[in-house]
Amino acid sequence: QATSISADRVPDMGKRKLMNLILLGAISLPTAGMLFPYTYFFVPPGGSSGGSGTFAKDALGNDVVAAEWLKIHGPGDRTLTQGLRGDPTYLVVESDRTLATYGINAVCTHLGCVVPWNSAENKFICPCHGSQYNYQGKVVRGPAPLSLALAHADIDEGKVVFVPWVETDFRTGEDPWWG
Ligand code: FES
Repeated sequence: QATSISADRVPDMGKRKLMNLILLGAISLPTAGMLFPYTYFFVPPGGSSGGSGTFAKDALGNDVVAAEWLKIHGPGDRTLTQGLRGDPTYLVVESDRTLATYGINAVCTHLGCVVPWNSAENKFICPCHGSQYNYQGKVVRGPAPLSLALAHADIDEGKVVFVPWVETDFRTGEDPWWG
């Protein structure tokens, strides 16, 4: 009897495999199309894992809804949120009251202090050893050796989602040092 059961199952399993293949194909084709602009970021070169996007969290741990955020954060605002891997990351409001398409990782590239935004100086100034970064996080004074890391700040169904930044750093024209 065991033989007859397995004999029944063989074609059945074959059919399931086929169905799975068809389903995978049906699902992955439109998904790949929709995600095309992001595919590069979700699959960073070098094969590191965990390259997917992360919803930005506000100080209370809630997802950041872009429209709500812009009601209380005006032009030029840089406020910390929780970003990729939990890193403190600035959301930037542009002068036209839209969210910048990049977030700035607040971890100082010298020894890792969180760098506050100084709106009077229009710079990020590290309290630990005095490193300074311009309004986009580009290093302008050491001892910090590198600019603050970037992340893409995308909008997904109204919410801000950070996606790893793997292409050229627009501030320096160089490949990202992070990643
Ligand atoms: Fe920021 Fe040293 S940790 S300057």
